Amino acid sequence: MMEQKHINLVFEKYNSINELQPDDALLLRKAIEATGLAYAPYSKFNVGAAAKLANGEIIVGANQENASYPVGICAERTLLSTASSLFPNVAINTMAISYKSAELESDHPITPCGVCRQTLHEFQLRVKQSMRLILAGETGEVYILADADILLPLSFSATDLQ
Ligand code: THU
Repeated sequence: MMEQKHINLVFEKYNSINELQPDDALLLRKAIEATGLAYAPYSKFNVGAAAKLANGEIIVGANQENASYPVGICAERTLLSTASSLFPNVAINTMAISYKSAELESDHPITPCGVCRQTLHEFQLRVKQSMRLILAGETGEVYILADADILLPLSFSATDLQ
C-alpha cells in the first residue's frame, strides 16, 4: 500500500549577527572577511567560508572562478579541500558561509549549492561528525543548521556503492 512520507527540516533563525553566541558571531565575521579572498571576476559574487575545526584551528575558503566557467570551485569546497589537506581526518565543528556581491545586497542567508551539499555530506561521513552551518549575508537574518545533512535528505553515499 502506498505510504506518504514526510521529511521535517528544522533550523534556527536569528534576526541578526548580534543575537549569536560570541564564537558563532566571530566565525561569521571571518566568513564575511573571507569574501575578500574570492576570485570571482565573472559572477562578481564573492562567497566566503570560515570553519572551526575539532582541533581548535580556524580556516577559511572563498570561491575561485575560471574563464572556463565550470572549472570554478565554490567557497565551501575550497574550504573542505583545505581542511583535508592541512588537517586530514579532523572534523569541522562549525562552518560559516557569507557573501558579498558587486550588484546585489548581501542582506539574507544563502545556502550551499547541490554539489557542495554532496561534498559536505561525504565529509561528515568521513570524519563521523556533524557539522553546524551558519548562513548569513553581511547583514540581516542568520540561519543555523545543526547538521549539514539537513540540506541533503535522501542522499546518495558510499554505502550505495557496496
Ligand atoms: N558559490 C559559492 O562559492 N558557494 C555557494 O554556496 C553558492 C555559489 C559561488 C560559485 C560562483 O563562483 C559564484 O558563487 C556564483 O555562483
